[in-house]
Amino acid sequence: MTQYLLFDDNLEAREVASTPQTAETAVPSTDTHAAAPMGAVDEDKATRMARVREPALVCTRCDLARTRNHVVFGEGNVESPLVLVGEGPGENEDATGRPFVGRAGVMLDEVLKENGMNRGHVYICNVIKCRAANFENGRLVNRPPRVEEAAACRTWLDAQLEIVRPLVIVCIGGPAASALIHPNFAITRERGIWFSNTPHAPWVMATLHPAYVLRLSGPGYEAARQRLVEDIGSARRKVIEARKQRPPTLF
Ligand code: URA
Repeated sequence: MTQYLLFDDNLEAREVASTPQTAETAVPSTDTHAAAPMGAVDEDKATRMARVREPALVCTRCDLARTRNHVVFGEGNVESPLVLVGEGPGENEDATGRPFVGRAGVMLDEVLKENGMNRGHVYICNVIKCRAANFENGRLVNRPPRVEEAAACRTWLDAQLEIVRPLVIVCIGGPAASALIHPNFAITRERGIWFSNTPHAPWVMATLHPAYVLRLSGPGYEAARQRLVEDIGSARRKVIEARKQRPPTLF
């Protein structure tokens, strides 16, 4: 019952349930703002998300439908003011149907925890919902989504963001930033910068993808990981700031 305090000024880490809220587990609330207590989710948002999820799980809008094991729709707190958007599912996500459950996901969980958060505080999804991979030397190797795959999948991402209507979006990695901030996004130059001119949320920023961080070693790894921690902390503070500025009638 402490989640609504998380995005207040008190930045101390605190115990919260980490179980992602779903239409099934959500307790209905009449509060349409994101500042509802943990365990109380806007029924309408949860119901709407469940309604979008259903056709997404059987989507055949692109050829990735032929090779996927699971559609990785997204999960978390549909009432959260903070949405994290990654590029797309990898092997572990394809196997489980859940976003960010491989090594990159473990790092993301750690980084959230270092900022006093867990998956119950945020909504997590990807630009594409099915694994993009090529068959090479007898095994599937992840590849970036093709433009037409991302375009075909866009309808689901747009619907998710329209339902959650977050105050803040963090793009996890350059491809998500290219989809949500601007098409020529350069993660080296533009990470950590706040953009307010996008249609999806008042504030959008991109950070390093944990999979990129995991490919580094030594001081480079430490510095990149620290940047990721700081960017997620900055996102939490941006929610607090935006809440103070936002006219109560918006969102
Ligand atoms: N990388 C992503 O971008 N998304 C996931 O869900 C997992 C790894």
